[in-house]
Amino acid sequence: MNVLVVDDEKNIREIMIKVLKLENINCAGAENGLSAQRMLQEKSFDIVVSDLKMPGMSGQELLEWIGKEGLNIPVIMMSAFGQAEDAVRALKQGAFDYIVKPFAPEEMLHRIRTAYKSKMMELQLDEKLKDDSYITHSPGMLKLKERMLRVAPTPSMVLITGESGSGKEVSARFIHKNSQVSNGPFISINIGGIPENLLESELFGYEKGAFTGAEKRKIGLFETAAGGTLFLDEIGEMPSSLQVKLLRVFQDKTIRRLGGISDIPINARIISATNKNLEEEVKKQTFREDLFYRLNVARIELMPLRERKEDILAISISLLKKLNKKMGSNIRTISDQAIEWLESYDFPGNIRELENILERACIFSGGTEFVLKDLDLPGNFNRSVDKIERGTIQEMEVKMTKKALHKWEGNRTKAAKELGISRRTILNKIKEFNLE
Ligand SMILES: Nc1ncnc2c1ncn2[C@@H]1O[C@H](COP(=O)(O)OP(=O)(O)OP(=O)(O)O)[C@@H](O)[C@H]1O
Ligand SMILES: [Mg+2]
Repeated sequence: MNVLVVDDEKNIREIMIKVLKLENINCAGAENGLSAQRMLQEKSFDIVVSDLKMPGMSGQELLEWIGKEGLNIPVIMMSAFGQAEDAVRALKQGAFDYIVKPFAPEEMLHRIRTAYKSKMMELQLDEKLKDDSYITHSPGMLKLKERMLRVAPTPSMVLITGESGSGKEVSARFIHKNSQVSNGPFISINIGGIPENLLESELFGYEKGAFTGAEKRKIGLFETAAGGTLFLDEIGEMPSSLQVKLLRVFQDKTIRRLGGISDIPINARIISATNKNLEEEVKKQTFREDLFYRLNVARIELMPLRERKEDILAISISLLKKLNKKMGSNIRTISDQAIEWLESYDFPGNIRELENILERACIFSGGTEFVLKDLDLPGNFNRSVDKIERGTIQEMEVKMTKKALHKWEGNRTKAAKELGISRRTILNKIKEFNLE
């Protein structure tokens, strides 16, 4: 999630950036409406938190502009005590929410999360969750998504690697949907799930009489996938006898049915996947190096879910929609605490594990909100995100001002410079907070 904080007070911007960072939320600051406009034009943000009263362009004007530009970004207005009327007007003009200063960081976080969830719900309703959409918000995975879109229209072989449950098959389907053969079939075969003696005939097919029991011709998957994609899942499980044959197929771009005499050109896009470390398997000589190089033309390395916590909320929401349908539940939102827990969990089983956790939650939750107690928490988990400091923004401001004054031995000019505020402001703060 990317949040833009617009406030002429540098302190507020910095504290917000700090608080959000502790929660793994990306946050940028703008010191007035104009620079906010510029940033919104350059980069995409999910939420804008803006002060109402600012010199130059006010929060209200910024809100209007966001509406006119058709940017679908929820805006949370911050107003000073006593500006309630203006805040209500802002709500009427389309602000998502408002909060009165000073506020507790947790309160702000809660509003931001609520706005984000509502935006996600809306977006996904809009998109009707097309199966060619690929949900991710993490910078690393967005780069990977770009990469997938770049290789998709080419005929190159793709090798997808990643931990179990990290979305290898979903990625393969995404590439297929964006390829030149998207109208053709997507045929998937799990190499590890088929007994070795059947694998060859599954892949290549056979002619009548090729062996005892071959009573009629059978078309193999290489041919079935013609005009589409053949997804070789768990390629690392390929028995070595077949590895040689596969290598030949990829070199010649033809196959021969068992017992057949003619070479049939393969006319399918090949994508393979594995959760094994094939480089290691090559070293151990359990996987042929030459085959590995054939397969590994375009490599897509999926990140484990614990390294892209930004995705947890978005993927949870999409999974809950799917699960609501499947389980007949009606979960519309997730409590902050439940999200916090999910974001602190390691997910050794990645998205598949997340899906299982949510499925159980659908069974046990009676209402429309998915709360922490619905989670059947798997064993121990470590909280990886620091707890945010309790206290209001004002308390944090006091702390920061004190610290700066202490550091510069009471020199107000230097302390003000460090805090990025004017000397007059720091004098006012010292008076306001009784720091003399
Ligand atoms: N980006 C995503 N958005 C939503 N759901 C996802 C996403 N990626 C994966 N999933 C879901 O997570 C589950 C696991 O995905 P998938 O089967 O593609 O993973 P895998 O890496 O092939 O797993 P395995 O190693 O178990 O075969 C599926 O139910 C899939 O729908
Ligand atoms: Mg899979």
